[in-house]
This record gives sequence, structure tokens and C-alpha cells, in this order.
Amino acid sequence: MELPDPDSVPRREFAKAAVALGGVAGLSACLGSDGDAGGGGNGDAVGGGPLDGVPAGDPGEAPERQHAWDDALDRDDAGNVVPPTHHVLRYVDVDRGDAPRADARERIEAAFTDLERAFERSAAGLLFTVGYSPAYFDRLPGTLPESVDLPAPRPLTGLEDPSIDEADALVHLAADEPAAVLAADEALFGEATAANGVPMTDASDLFDPVDRRTGFIGAGLPREHRDVDGIPDDAPVPEGAKLFMGFANGFAASQATEDRVTIEAGPFAGGTTQQVSTLRTQLDAWWSQESHAQRVAKLFSPTHADEERVGEYGERLGSDPGVADLPEDAVAYAREEGVVGHAQKAARAREDGKPRLLRRDFPTTDGDHTGIHFLTLQESIGDFVAVRDAMTGADVADETGVGSRINNGILQYVFVRSRGNFLVPPRGLRALPDPDPRSEP
Ligand code: HEM
Repeated sequence: MELPDPDSVPRREFAKAAVALGGVAGLSACLGSDGDAGGGGNGDAVGGGPLDGVPAGDPGEAPERQHAWDDALDRDDAGNVVPPTHHVLRYVDVDRGDAPRADARERIEAAFTDLERAFERSAAGLLFTVGYSPAYFDRLPGTLPESVDLPAPRPLTGLEDPSIDEADALVHLAADEPAAVLAADEALFGEATAANGVPMTDASDLFDPVDRRTGFIGAGLPREHRDVDGIPDDAPVPEGAKLFMGFANGFAASQATEDRVTIEAGPFAGGTTQQVSTLRTQLDAWWSQESHAQRVAKLFSPTHADEERVGEYGERLGSDPGVADLPEDAVAYAREEGVVGHAQKAARAREDGKPRLLRRDFPTTDGDHTGIHFLTLQESIGDFVAVRDAMTGADVADETGVGSRINNGILQYVFVRSRGNFLVPPRGLRALPDPDPRSEP
């Protein structure tokens, strides 16, 4: 991929392109275009020197839950968590070569600890998680305890034919500063021997890269990045929207808490499960044929459209999209309205009135096409499957005039490209965990 001319595109657009490119080239481009993050092509920062304005961290302060990000993040005026802007998903296989397992584990743990020393655990620094796939655990002696529900990924609807992600591990890197994610990425998986001025243990030989996916989330970014396939170049995406579909997401009342998604019992207590579906969105008709009211009806509910609850992009919703107070029987609702909303359908899977998924999804233009890396955390993969079934709404389609895709939420616009499931262990087990750590000698 080619980088745009830094003088002819906004700074944020250039930064996004640099993160997508990655490697030393992405990092040096990013630093060269951005005086704040290392100063005019500062060769030292490319080689692992300090990044301007990026605070260092203290591994001693890291919580046991890798996924405990919310306390480290800001809230917006309504109290919703503000996710970091730039994201990299590194899918890797573990390749120990001749290295004994204990040595490899020690070196990988040292690299992660160095990363925590190099970057404050915040959006200004770096947040990251490390997860392991069913394919990884299957190759090892022993079995996962019953307290961990981690089936192999599979297609979840009759409308999809996804590729299945079977890489051993997934490292999710997230930060507001593009140079921070790139420097961390280079230090873990590339040639860099330091990051943000802190020497890094080299564990890169223990990982074989399988895939690298990127994205971004923040108001204004979809509007800036709509010059890709999947959306008209002049789509009137509001400035305040975080999604290519033109709305905000991640309202607090529609998110599971970190407690709700944490595995409570067994050796992996304090961990969580992570699923990532890479979704491609095809939004030409969304923007050219649907009215704003239709978009609101399909994403939230027809009631939201009738009562103008949402506003231009969601600014009227505060911290609660208000999908739990809609008629519970989505089937009757769909029959009456002829349309059923996405969030309304998904909310049917709440348990005791509470959401089961902590969604940490972010839009992408990987492959120069609009999409979403739909990353969620939940206590069990079964929770995800139940919510996805509710979102798919096959029951709604079967029993009403609403189609399996058409007028059935946003299904008409969303295409599943890949699915992957991972276990994000507690921090103490994040380096090459055994399937049942209790049975270790
Ligand atoms: C292109 C893909 C998607 C877009 C643009 C999208 C967008 C949204 C938006 C705007 C909301 C309402 C507000 C909020 O986020 O808090 C929402 C809610 C939700 N979505 Fe999605 N979504 C997408 C895919 C999915 C998928 C694949 C799932 C399911 C497995 C899902 C599950 C949910 C859930 C559980 C809620 C909250 C429902 C509740 O309040 O209980 N979404 N989504």
C-alpha cells in the first residue's frame, strides 16, 4: 500500500495510513509527519527512542485482568468510555524452534513487561491484550478446564462463509498516538530493540506473523476516511459519527461491565474470552437510498425514528440508547412495523436486563474497503453466539414479512469475512499458557 502525500491530506488521515502500513516505514512516516510524536523524522524514535508526549509506564501497577481498560480510559460528557483511537490486531503463530517451553515463556513475558515499562497503561500510552486460540490449546497436552468456554470458531449464520482464524495468538494493541501502536508493534514483532526509549527483550523470533489488521475509532474519522470502496466518496457522514454508518456507538447502558465478562472460576479466573469477526460493510445503498429516519429505524428501532430519539448521529442518547424498553416481542414488532432495528434485536439477548458483550469494535479501511473489526469480550463464547443469534434474528425473518437480510436491522449491509475466538488469560498467565495451568509440575 502507498502512503498519501503528507502535505495534501489531513494529519489524522495520514496517521491512519501510517498505522495501516506498519513496520519501520509506517513508523518513520508517522514521525516524519508529526512533530508531536518524536519530532520531524527523528531517527532515534524510529529506532526505539522516546516518543514526544507518550508517557512511560510501571508494570507494578498493571491489574491482573488484561482486559481491565475502562479505568485507564476517559469518559465523554455523558459518561461513556472513550476507546483509544488507533488499533492493530496482530495474529501470530508461536514458533519456539529449539527453545525450551519455559525459556520461551520467560522471554515472551519479559517482552510484555518491557512494553508495560515503555508505555503508560492509558490511551496516551498503550493498552494491549494477548489472547490464545483453540488451535493453540489443541496442540498442547491437557485440556482447558470446564470454566473456559472456547470452542473453535465456525460460521454462525446461514448468510456467511467466513474464513476461520486459527493463528495461535492475537495481540491487540491500542493507543491514541499512532506512533505508540507502531513502536509497540515493531518492538514485539519487528526489528526494534527498544520502544519509547526503553530497551525491549527480543522475543520476535518466537512469533511467526500470520496477519495484521488495523482500524481506528473516533468522531470525525469515518467522514475523513470515506474515500475507499464500500461507501460513496461524498456520503454525508456526520462529523460526530464514529461509524461509517453515520452514528456513534458504545453507549454505556448497552455495554457489559468488565466484571460481567470476566471468567470467575478455575485457573483462568480473571481472564475473559475474545471473539473477533472481521466484517465488511457495503454502504452505497445505505447512504444513497435510505433516509435518515430509515437509517435510524434499521440501526436502533422504528420507535427511535418515529420519536426522533437519536438526533443527527446519536447525540440525544446520552449514555443509554434505550433499546431495552422497547416491546420485547421483536417478532410482533417487526410484523407491525415491517422493519426491525439492529440494536433492538441484539438487546433481546440481555440476561437479567444486562448486556452480555463488552464491544470494543472499531472501523477499518483495510483492503481500501469499509468494514469493522467487531471485537467483543464476554465470559463465554456461548454468550457471543447467543447475542449473534439474536442479532441475526432468523426467528424474526421466519415469522414476519421482514426478510432474512432486507429490513432486518443492518444485515443487508454487513458481510462476515472471518471469525476467530481467543482466551485472554489473566496477566499472570499471558505468556504461552498451558491448557490447564493447575496440572503443571
Ligand atoms: C457493521 C456492524 C455493526 C454496527 C455498525 C453496529 C452498530 C451498533 C450501534 C450503533 C448500536 C447501538 C448503540 C451502542 O453501540 O451502544 C449497537 C448495539 C449493539 N450491537 Fe451492534 N453493530 C454492528 C454489528 C454487531 C454485531 C455483529 C453484533 C453481534 C453479535 C452486535 C451486537 C450489538 C449489541 C449486543 C448491541 C447492544 C444491545 C443492547 O443494548 O443490549 N452488533 N450496534
